[in-house]
Amino acid sequence: MKKLAVLAVVVLLGAGVLADGGQIYAQCAGCHQVNGQGIPGAFPPLAGELPRIVAKGDAGRKYLIQVVLFGLQGPIVAQGKSFNGVMPPFAHLTDAEVAAVLNHVLTSWGNDKLPKGFKPFSAAEVKALRARKLTPQQVFADWKKLGLK
Ligand code: HEC
Repeated sequence: MKKLAVLAVVVLLGAGVLADGGQIYAQCAGCHQVNGQGIPGAFPPLAGELPRIVAKGDAGRKYLIQVVLFGLQGPIVAQGKSFNGVMPPFAHLTDAEVAAVLNHVLTSWGNDKLPKGFKPFSAAEVKALRARKLTPQQVFADWKKLGLK
């Protein structure tokens, strides 16, 4: 029985079903830093900022998924500071991995002060947006619509 359970976990991991958000975040930490604080003038902080974005509801959730899938380019403001860089797309991540890394970021560094009723990101949500194939500039247009300053 035990062997079967181990095998099941290995198979699920292989399929990306049990994607480990913390492990995937290693691909983000070079820019956004291990503590999520980013680097002033270069990489925006994810700590503190992401709860503000999910508080915008569906549009905020879609924006976050699209940043990871398609990248981002344009002048944004995060935690009161300006950034105008380029984030590359992470389209090579599976749907489950995109959901897992966002859930990891949203439960780290005090980001867990999330709106009431917040639901974790799901692979299905990511899958539905992948087909949009946006450019990083189009993702920036969605940031503007959120009305964050
Ligand atoms: C090569 C550097 C780099 C890597 C790696 C990177 N990012 Fe980014 N990220 C950026 C930059 C630069 C911006 C801001 C782009 C701009 O100014 O338009 C950004 C913006 C963001 C935003 C939007 C923040 C906001 O306030 O609207 C999110 C969310 C984000 N990144 C998440 C991630 C995640 C999750 C990963 C890992 C899967 C990741 N990033 C990997 C450079 C990076």
